Amino acid sequence: MSQLFTPLQINGIAFKNRIGVSPMCQYSSEDGVATNWHMVHLGSRAVGGVGLVMAECTAVSRNGRISQGCAGLWGQKHAEALKPIVDFQHEHGAVAGIQISHSGRKGSAATALNGGNHLEADDPAGWDIVGPTSEAFDPDGTRLWKAPLALSINEIKNIQEQFVHSAKLACDIGYDLLEVHCAHGYLLHSFLTPLVNKRVDAFGGDLAGRAKFLLETVEKVRAAWPENRVLSVRLSVHDFVDCGLTLEDSTQVGLWLKERGVDILDCSGGGAVPAARGAIGNRTAEQPEMAGIIRNTTGLPTMAVGAITDPQQAESIIATSKADIILLGREMMRDPHWALTAAKALGVDTRPILAEQYGFFVG
Ligand SMILES: Cc1cc2nc3c(=O)[nH]c(=O)nc-3n(C[C@H](O)[C@H](O)[C@H](O)COP(=O)(O)O)c2cc1C
Repeated sequence: MSQLFTPLQINGIAFKNRIGVSPMCQYSSEDGVATNWHMVHLGSRAVGGVGLVMAECTAVSRNGRISQGCAGLWGQKHAEALKPIVDFQHEHGAVAGIQISHSGRKGSAATALNGGNHLEADDPAGWDIVGPTSEAFDPDGTRLWKAPLALSINEIKNIQEQFVHSAKLACDIGYDLLEVHCAHGYLLHSFLTPLVNKRVDAFGGDLAGRAKFLLETVEKVRAAWPENRVLSVRLSVHDFVDCGLTLEDSTQVGLWLKERGVDILDCSGGGAVPAARGAIGNRTAEQPEMAGIIRNTTGLPTMAVGAITDPQQAESIIATSKADIILLGREMMRDPHWALTAAKALGVDTRPILAEQYGFFVG
């Protein structure tokens, strides 16, 4: 009996298997609004038989995007474009997830497809960026990294309300799983990590102070997000740099998140500073092991992500209780029918995996 294909229930949400699509920026939105590309990208992976399809990091405000092509959820026009995509995912039995985020000091950049550099200060396509302090992501680097404006406490409160607003819109659209993005050096992670947050007020200092922005945000989002649906937080569980966040820190943060009603932790890593390689860098493969440690130490379910490509590897992560769901990023780009590939490799009945339009004829 494959553990990977064993259903999972969290609150009122049933996952038909443990395979999920990791959130991946598509740089294909217009003023944050999803396009046909999103229907095809997300829809085809639902057709491919995964249990969970998670939409890319979706900004809570226009200035919370990473680039102009990034997704957003701050108005009705965004909700209207996402609704048919979520409905389609549901028609094909996939749990619909969305990651809400604020880019912080990494915003106002060109899309990754166009090099990902920060836009020049006088570029009308750019905007003012914000962070815990006014230190740029890489002040000494060869690439341009703009200096952010240090957020005031009132501005922090405003951004928290933007998270709540996006959560309410996501609820109305019909999403089953909401993920708060606190990884990869974006705003909430930049407050959490001592590598970036040098504030001396209540939102800085020790771990509790640095976690305040995240924890308050999650508390407010949980109050707005139905109890029977799933609330996730993506953490960079390790900063991969000396003096950065450790697994012990992330365990403590995980316990605080558990107290605030978070249902599952999505365990990614890195991205806070240039030396901490990015989300798809060369230490990604260590993350599933770390998801297991976080699962054991917090008692919360986890999602494991990072260089998972092989069905046996995925099966073993679930079977050895490192995670409750495995997420695939890049491999899902290569093979939208990876669930079928895995079922074949693990000797699981392939017929129910595909949409009936395909599954009736092929397996
Ligand atoms: C094109 C691309 C876009 C990504 N965008 C996001 C994102 O929006 N939010 C996020 O948390 N991670 C993002 N990531 C990281 C992935 O979700 C995933 O954690 C990472 O790729 C490692 O998994 P993999 O080895 O299966 O690709 C992105 C990765 C890629 C390749």
